[in-house]
Amino acid sequence: MINYDYTIDLSDKLLAFIRYVFKNHAEFRHSCLGHYAKFSPLWGGEPLSKKQTVNFSDGSQPINLCSPIVLAAGANKNAKDINAYANLGLGGITVGTATRHLRIGNMHKPRVGLDEFNRLIYNSMGLNNYGIEKIVERVQKQIDNARKNNFAVGISIAETPGIAEAKRLQDLLETFSIAYNTADYLEVNVSCPNTGEERLDLDTAFMAQTFDAFNEYKKNAPIRKAIYAKLSPDLTDKQLLSLLELLSRFGVNGVILGNTYPSEKLFYSLPVLNDKGTSGGISGRPLYENTFRKTVLAKKHFPNFSVISCGGIDHGLKVRDLLNEGADFVQVYSVFAFRWMAGQKMMREFSCPSNP
Ligand SMILES: Cc1cc2nc3c(=O)[nH]c(=O)nc-3n(C[C@H](O)[C@H](O)[C@H](O)COP(=O)(O)O)c2cc1C
Repeated sequence: MINYDYTIDLSDKLLAFIRYVFKNHAEFRHSCLGHYAKFSPLWGGEPLSKKQTVNFSDGSQPINLCSPIVLAAGANKNAKDINAYANLGLGGITVGTATRHLRIGNMHKPRVGLDEFNRLIYNSMGLNNYGIEKIVERVQKQIDNARKNNFAVGISIAETPGIAEAKRLQDLLETFSIAYNTADYLEVNVSCPNTGEERLDLDTAFMAQTFDAFNEYKKNAPIRKAIYAKLSPDLTDKQLLSLLELLSRFGVNGVILGNTYPSEKLFYSLPVLNDKGTSGGISGRPLYENTFRKTVLAKKHFPNFSVISCGGIDHGLKVRDLLNEGADFVQVYSVFAFRWMAGQKMMREFSCPSNP
């Protein structure tokens, strides 16, 4: 059994102190990652210079990355100062999740919490974002610089929660088409547990309709872009395999395994964050075992499908093990709350030849 624990060094203790100081300002603390990225050259942060490429058999535009570790959706919801995040040892970023129009998200506060002992974050933000047009406008201004550094920029989109049944497909297709030309890759978030609405990944008929429409759009577009579906980590093996089968029929390039884990299915007792009486979605360390297992399962049955592993990845050896199982790259988020310069540290662990 590999020991994925890491030594808490002085800089991690400083981060713990900052968490403590701002313990009553959960969302401010959450938004600090952007400032931290911007100022990180002061303590050695800089873009990595390695280049790796993810290729697609359907001729979709390859994704160039300068590290196999990418920032997951939700950390930079509104595409602010994208290029600063390259200083964090990351190979790219997914911005959003964006909906068709601005959303303020859930009304209750706080909407984010931390469990220090389990190194996890729970949240019930509810897809707050400025809307796809504003987000794309910002990405357009920054993406040329990002590409120069092989820093990939994906855009995550989702259905507007609560939209009338008859407008669902149109809403998603509009958001998708606005994002399509600008992003290096598209992520369709079909598994957000925090909006009070049914998740798309449990509605197979609508999933088929949606991805069929995206596929048609892509066939007629001047450039083919990679399309990923972000699935929930609580799917059973059977549900996951049947979804993969469905997605592969509609030209989807891959999946992100997975999103934040619906808290009502865990045995943790965490403070309630929403009017459903749950603490929303759980992210961070406890998710890893499931992430690994689902990656192995997906690659075993669908070897040609691109898999981006996400959930509980907080050590370079986890990155290495997931890539060895066939993941194209990984996405991380919560680790930045617990490890100072997490990207650089994980890249060192990942590249160290003396590791087991
Ligand atoms: C505060 C917070 C907000 C998030 N918002 C989004 C989001 O808008 N869209 C999305 O696809 N995932 C969102 N996620 C899920 C993350 O992208 C990721 O899938 C999850 O946190 C698991 O990765 P981790 O264990 O490395 O944090 C959010 C997670 C957190 C903690």
